[in-house]
Amino acid sequence: MYMFKLIRPLLFSFKDPETAHNLALSFLKLAGLSPFASLANFLTQVDNAALRQQVFGLDFKNPVGLAGGFDKHGEVLKGLEALGFGFLETGTITKLPQPGNPRQRIFRLNEDLGIINRLGFNNAGAEVLAKRLSHLNKIKIPIGISLGKSKITGLADSAKDYLFSLQHLYPYGDYFAINVSSPNTPGLRDLQGKEYLMEIVSLLLGFSNNVDIKKPILLKIAPDLSVEAINEVLEICKNFSIDGIIATNTTLSREGLKSHTNEAGGLSGAPLRAKSTEVIRYIHKQMPALPIIGVGGIFTAADAYEKIKAGASLVQIYTGFIYEGPMIVKKINKGLVELLKRDGFKNISEAVGVDPVRSR
Ligand SMILES: Cc1cc2nc3c(=O)[nH]c(=O)nc-3n(C[C@H](O)[C@H](O)[C@H](O)COP(=O)(O)O)c2cc1C
Repeated sequence: MYMFKLIRPLLFSFKDPETAHNLALSFLKLAGLSPFASLANFLTQVDNAALRQQVFGLDFKNPVGLAGGFDKHGEVLKGLEALGFGFLETGTITKLPQPGNPRQRIFRLNEDLGIINRLGFNNAGAEVLAKRLSHLNKIKIPIGISLGKSKITGLADSAKDYLFSLQHLYPYGDYFAINVSSPNTPGLRDLQGKEYLMEIVSLLLGFSNNVDIKKPILLKIAPDLSVEAINEVLEICKNFSIDGIIATNTTLSREGLKSHTNEAGGLSGAPLRAKSTEVIRYIHKQMPALPIIGVGGIFTAADAYEKIKAGASLVQIYTGFIYEGPMIVKKINKGLVELLKRDGFKNISEAVGVDPVRSR
């Protein structure tokens, strides 16, 4: 763990952050092997009743998850589990294998504590992920699988594309996220529109409602949607009884950045924090019973608490994990226990949505 302090300068010295990412995945593979996993477990776990809750039918020992896109291929889930996360999301995976956009396609904005990425769903395809997950040793925390659309599939055929991935991966996920919000696949965000979204949601929920074990299906949305567009999405969530929303994906906005950059792609990290919180707050106000996973710019327990008080039951991190390293999970969980105690909440579920107005 303290190793991160030593290897951080090495990871941040690579000109292409993707090289650092691949090296970090190698470390995590190692961390997943016992006895390293037992040691990491010992150093990172925060076991506290105030953090435990049941959300969309699944048990979470703490609310801090890893966001989609970090372990796209489910290669290091054991190592990540040992870092104290409450849940992990693998993918985004598409029906067909695809290389994604040409490199360099990840850019760190150090001054802003942000990242721009235009990976474009580089992945080995749903069948390969299914095979890998079928060999995985038991993981004790919930695993979500994020599903996207293959680049070559036309928008009109996307529902079937998502369904293919869901069917192949269904035995291996505890929940599934329909990702219609990545900015790096041309047209993907159009799938948040009423007609396309209704078709995808009805097909996928139709599948999960008609198999022996119903598993939660969530929708991950962009932070750049207008209020009208969010209302349309929520209408569909209501009509089809979707199990939850993940808010939000990366933004196309470049507002307020200190860094000078013309790179195309989705922006994540600190510059996204306030915007994603406001989306969460709006959704919770409209549909208080709909579980929300809040994601965007979380670096501290206060950032996570802000999202919980705005209406998120669970949170996810990506960019904060890159900048702060593995101890961030424990830091957030410990900090949340203190914040809940300070405010007189016995359990995190009591704090969800208590702050209906804009905070910071
Ligand atoms: C390099 C990179 C790759 C990502 N890939 C995915 C992805 O495949 N699927 C997805 O749903 N989100 C993906 N995201 C978005 C994150 O899951 C998250 O929604 C977003 O980064 C905001 O959280 P953060 O500010 O904590 O990073 C990616 C983000 C980054 C930085």
